[in-house]
Amino acid sequence: MNKERLPSLTHNWISSLGAMISLVAGVCIVFFLVFSLVAQGINPYLGILLYMIMPAFLAGGLLLIPIGMFVRWRDLQKVGQIVYHKWPSVDLNDERHRKAAMMFSAVTLILAVVSAVGIYQAYHYTDSVTFCGVTCHTVMKPEFTTYQDSPHARVRCVACHIGPGAGWYARSKMSGLYQVYAVLADRYPRPVPTPIKDLRPAQETCEQCHWPRQFYGGQQRQFNSYLYDKANTHWQINMLVKTGGGNPKTSQTSGIHWHMNIAVKVEYVARDKKRQDIPWIRVTDRETGKVIVYQDVSMPLSEKELQSLKPRTMDCMDCHNRPSHNFHSPDYAVNLAILTGKIDGELPEIKSAAVKALSQDYATSADAQKQIIKAIPDFYRLKYPDIYSRKRKEIEESTGAILTAYTRNVFPEMKARWSDYPDDIGHFIFKGCMRCHDGKHKSEEGAVIPNDCRTCHIILSQGSPGKSEVVDFRTGLEFKHPVDIGDAWKGGACYECHTGSGP
Ligand code: HEC
Ligand code: HEC
Ligand code: HEC
Ligand code: HEC
Ligand code: HEC
Ligand code: HEC
Repeated sequence: MNKERLPSLTHNWISSLGAMISLVAGVCIVFFLVFSLVAQGINPYLGILLYMIMPAFLAGGLLLIPIGMFVRWRDLQKVGQIVYHKWPSVDLNDERHRKAAMMFSAVTLILAVVSAVGIYQAYHYTDSVTFCGVTCHTVMKPEFTTYQDSPHARVRCVACHIGPGAGWYARSKMSGLYQVYAVLADRYPRPVPTPIKDLRPAQETCEQCHWPRQFYGGQQRQFNSYLYDKANTHWQINMLVKTGGGNPKTSQTSGIHWHMNIAVKVEYVARDKKRQDIPWIRVTDRETGKVIVYQDVSMPLSEKELQSLKPRTMDCMDCHNRPSHNFHSPDYAVNLAILTGKIDGELPEIKSAAVKALSQDYATSADAQKQIIKAIPDFYRLKYPDIYSRKRKEIEESTGAILTAYTRNVFPEMKARWSDYPDDIGHFIFKGCMRCHDGKHKSEEGAVIPNDCRTCHIILSQGSPGKSEVVDFRTGLEFKHPVDIGDAWKGGACYECHTGSGP
């Protein structure tokens, strides 16, 4: 019986290797932990090493120790060095056994505590913005860059993409494993496609912070544009956007957030992956059970399509699909830069020249930088030599701002640009609301999804600052298109001419 010398079981190469691996991994972890505590702004890759790779080595090494002992125990049995037992017997009355057992329990306890802390840290680390946005540098760059100056810049990626609860956490980590593989093997799509299949419903993400019952009333918004003429004429449209919403119990319901009203359910079918072509909509009154189906009369859904396409229940993300990754079109980016004085609006034709430079297809970011730095000054040197010699500094600064707009919004390495990610709010350069509100969606009874401009907003003033017409907010103004295009704007299909990259 006492021939079974427990400690000597560890004298085998498998256990020794395991001990060595875990020792090295343990020392590395302690070193990196101390390093990450003292060093500021640590490298995000350190997190992967610290919380994922090293602990895996540590655990693997530790596991090798008992495996080696077991193998050795079996071998010793075979050569008859110890008495045969089906399982190793432990006798706590034997002092050596007792010491070994105590040692084993103590080490296990320490390891359990350390791993609990480690797993908790790893959990936080894989949920951090650093992990999502920075570690996966090239892949997430477009989304991370646009995220940083969005209203949600302080909301962690996981709050929208995963939401609370262990089930979704596990689900996302499983698909995350595949994503890590896809990135390492360079097998991911460029640009990263939207909408994300199986994204968690907004009720469980957005609505953790925003309350669908909240009534917002009207919001005044000012839209600033600069024309593509020589003077970059400033054009302002000031609107009251009827956000509305609310709880039917307080009878404060109306406006745009009507779709989110708890008393109605809006479902739709889309023909395309990006949900831009919506031929069929069903509205259900949850209280009375009344159903209305609207169909696009210009392109109705066939019976076969209706059977094969699954209806989606409308939620926040069917309008606010870019709450955090808002890519600016060249048109918008340049308007913004002139408005904030980063681009000098006094330079003739700067709007047009800047939008042209931003709209080109460049192979790489470096290439874009080289060409933009040359194109803008060249434009003035050749066309306006006088301005070029007088306004060197302004031209240089404006060129810098155009470059900044480029790096903020276009990512050639990921093939990601504004036009790949339609923004479903509005109807200026993407279909947005007009996917349903284009006046062509009708029910069998002849009801039309409203298309009148005043359904969604009221124009309070429009024109060049100082010269604009101003009006009573209850009636509003009829829209005036900044340049004469006849009646072509009626119906709200602005996106048919306005592409975001100039006329
Ligand atoms: C306020 C909520 C919110 C936050 C915070 C957020 N996202 Fe998103 N993200 C979205 C929505 C909504 C979509 C579009 C989903 C859809 O239509 O399926 C999206 C789409 C994406 C896409 C798909 C490509 C695209 O641009 O449509 C990626 C990749 C992405 N997000 C990464 C991130 C990363 C990385 C972070 C953190 C740095 C982050 N997101 C933070 C809401 C958010
Ligand atoms: C963790 C909390 C949180 C989550 C989750 C969240 N938001 Fe927000 N959201 C905020 C806060 C806080 C603001 C106000 C930011 C500010 O004004 O600086 C905001 C602002 C907004 C705004 C107004 C933006 C503007 O331009 O003023 C919209 C629209 C919005 N969120 C939509 C969404 C949608 C859609 C989702 C889900 C995809 C979402 N939010 C998820 C916290 C959150
Ligand atoms: C038939 C084509 C067409 C339609 C439809 C159209 N526009 Fe335009 N729009 C133009 C042209 C052309 C210009 C002139 C570009 C310039 O010189 O600034 C222009 C200029 C503008 C400008 C000034 C500067 C800029 O950003 O280009 C605004 C603002 C504008 N349109 C708003 C609208 C809105 C809002 C609608 C929809 C209600 C609309 N347009 C529909 C063709 C169109
Ligand atoms: C039918 C489209 C649509 C749907 C669905 C929708 N919104 Fe909106 N929401 C808008 C529009 C349009 C505005 C006006 C502001 C704007 O144009 O950005 C707005 C404004 C907001 C604002 C800003 C209000 C303020 O006073 O600053 C928040 C926050 C918001 N929505 C959250 C949500 C949330 C959360 C959901 C889902 C429960 C949701 N929205 C569903 C279209 C929609
Ligand atoms: C998926 C289709 C769909 C989309 C996309 C959509 N709507 Fe609607 N909307 C509807 C339907 C259906 C109705 C109800 C028509 C009815 O039965 O009166 C409606 C009604 C409205 C109403 C009238 C609500 C009331 O008080 O009665 C407003 C305002 C509105 N939508 C604004 C918007 C805006 C703004 C957008 C874009 C940000 C938008 N909608 C996008 C389908 C849509
Ligand atoms: C179904 C609702 C709806 C209808 C109908 C509608 N709009 Fe809009 N419109 C919006 C929303 C939502 C926005 C975006 C507001 C925002 O970005 O905050 C918008 C934006 C605009 C803008 C600002 C464009 C920009 O980004 O510079 C103009 C101008 C405008 N609409 C004019 C019109 C005119 C003219 C009509 C009628 C022909 C019309 N709209 C019909 C919902 C609507």
